[in-house]
Amino acid sequence: MAFSLEHSEALLERARALMPGGVNSPVRAFRAVEGHPPFISKARGPWLYDEDGHRYVDLVGTWGPAILGHAHPEVVAAVCAAAGRGTSFGAPTAAEVVMAEKIREFYPAMDMLRLVNSGTEACMSALRVARGATGRDAFVKFEGCYHGHADSFLVKAGSGAATFGEPDSAGVPADLAQHTVTLPYNDPDALAALFEARGHEIAAVILEPVTGNMGVIKPSEAFLDALRTLPKQHGALVIFDEVMTGFRVHRGGAQALFGFEPDLTCLGKVVGGGLPVGVYGGKAAYMQHVSPLGKVYQAGTLSGNPLATAAGIATLDLLTQDAFDRAAAAADAVTEGLRQVIAETKTTAVVEQVGTMLTLFFAAEAPKNFDEVAACDHARFGRFHRLMLEEGVYLPPSGYEACFLSAEHGPDEVNAIVDAARKALPASAG
Ligand SMILES: Cc1ncc(COP(=O)(O)O)c(C=O)c1O
Repeated sequence: MAFSLEHSEALLERARALMPGGVNSPVRAFRAVEGHPPFISKARGPWLYDEDGHRYVDLVGTWGPAILGHAHPEVVAAVCAAAGRGTSFGAPTAAEVVMAEKIREFYPAMDMLRLVNSGTEACMSALRVARGATGRDAFVKFEGCYHGHADSFLVKAGSGAATFGEPDSAGVPADLAQHTVTLPYNDPDALAALFEARGHEIAAVILEPVTGNMGVIKPSEAFLDALRTLPKQHGALVIFDEVMTGFRVHRGGAQALFGFEPDLTCLGKVVGGGLPVGVYGGKAAYMQHVSPLGKVYQAGTLSGNPLATAAGIATLDLLTQDAFDRAAAAADAVTEGLRQVIAETKTTAVVEQVGTMLTLFFAAEAPKNFDEVAACDHARFGRFHRLMLEEGVYLPPSGYEACFLSAEHGPDEVNAIVDAARKALPASAG
């Protein structure tokens, strides 16, 4: 029977009358792959099920959180038990203390931390702390990194790199955007030039320490070295945005993988076990600026919510080294399998992988920055995506994203992915 998304398309039609693009987050609209999204009815382990009766091997993992697979019975039980005790108190709870202690075991660089409701809030708040602690407004981010949708981050490089930023979204004031400096990723010279020229103005440098939001790109040694030295020399903080890499490139994040102690860290996704949680924190000297101790204001009605902490604690308890290793081994096997198929089919493509994350780029060499990702064959990715979906594999619907494996992806799922790619890769040639 021909692959049909009839029910999903009918839902999309209704949704479009109500929500911009019919979705509550733009990438879900499948615009980048010129397709229509399946509407999801349920998820279990490594599998997603849609309203049209299809089952897919899931490589999105709800954009990262599902490292244990979907609907892990112990996480579900913890959330249900918590719901029975009350869904929100707006007052301190023991679970928040337990969760904060567990996070600090994995991320010892976080002397103190705050629980918030999303990665966006975590990054926005960490930046505010850096600005408040240094008394400086400007900060550096890197092209292709995503730090959520707070105004200061929705900024692109101005005409001369290292000069004033320009809004990258309507509604972001130019007055605010001018404080965001956007530099190319993996370019230590650009960072050095910026600090040379404007070092005394810079509050912080924020980065994805392995990128996921332009696909998986590793930081070069020289880039990491520059990040270790330059900001410190000029009194600027380093913020590791590990919303995506946290618990995914290593249980202790990229900071454990690279032996890098950032001043501030942002977490999200895995740490909430599929519920809305973000975390920011770092050196006590900086976190003491946060209200009510200090003058940096940040708050949240639902922050530290009991359902979210129940899911987070259960997830962190279940994310043993063994569970992490299973997810990473699945990523290794998918990477290996895809590379074989690429070679067999003589496709111009590469697979980059770190820990449990990987990206297939339609390029001859692994990209090192945003421009190189932009130069990949994205039209072909769109065709590949559609063919993989028809073969029962749910890839992220954009060539600028990472795939996420889970501890529940076993040999059957890995083989299903590789077999699907064996058909879809040559057929996507166009
Ligand atoms: C690295 C990074 N930072 C921040 C965010 C924003 O997180 P959220 O979507 O939870 O607001 C994301 C989301 O994908 C992310 O990948």
